[in-house]
Amino acid sequence: MAHRDLTMAGETAGCSAIFTESLEDFLTAARQHPRGLVALRADAPVQPDELRRYCLALGGVMEYEQAGEIRVVRNDPNIPNSTAMSDRPLPLHTDGTFAARPPERFMLSFTRADNGGGGLSTFMPVSEILATAPGPVIEALLTADYLFPRGYDGDLTDSYIGPVLFPDGAGLGIRWRSDTIWRPQVIDHHGTKAADAIDWLHDYLTVTEPYTYSAREGETLLVPNTVLLHGRTALSTDSPRELLRVWVTDHRGPGVR
Ligand SMILES: [Fe+2]
Repeated sequence: MAHRDLTMAGETAGCSAIFTESLEDFLTAARQHPRGLVALRADAPVQPDELRRYCLALGGVMEYEQAGEIRVVRNDPNIPNSTAMSDRPLPLHTDGTFAARPPERFMLSFTRADNGGGGLSTFMPVSEILATAPGPVIEALLTADYLFPRGYDGDLTDSYIGPVLFPDGAGLGIRWRSDTIWRPQVIDHHGTKAADAIDWLHDYLTVTEPYTYSAREGETLLVPNTVLLHGRTALSTDSPRELLRVWVTDHRGPGVR
């Protein structure tokens, strides 16, 4: 599948990509573009304490039960049932789909890059989905209630039930996680073709070229979680790709507890 370079997309993609080289510029751009992707390029990999400092400057670190504040993501064959911790492609999704209020933004800070052509970050703005989806699909995604469990083990303790699309600041936000073994299940269709809408979006994201970005070591991406789906291409053989991930608490109030 061909890819579109995120850095060439600019505002035309409905999602700006802004590159900065100082923390001051990064924070300014983050304030000015709450729905944009903002990158900070440092000369060396960012340490967890430093990333935490960025996060505090942006509003705070979102903590949630049973998870560390800053998570290390890399290929680890010892961890079963985790696509993120494998070398497989990671389908486009949003983080925290199981939470009542998913993080508005999160940061990915690259400590080791995949220089073998794999492990590209992939992105898809919700604006492109809205521009393409048939009316009945949008109506269903806005109206129907779907189940978003935390995991696939049948434990629904930490689940969210609600629509895929929702009002989010000046536009619509999205909650999405769908892959080869799971699609959001319809709890109440509210008179819409709810299951068809899920299938449409799943298929659309499977066949549409995502935007891609090849992150460098020392680069930190601030991603607007609810307006920009994200994923990853398959890693190269023996890829050392490693990143730190942290969810940013935002102006909507305290994080999910
Ligand atoms: Fe993610």
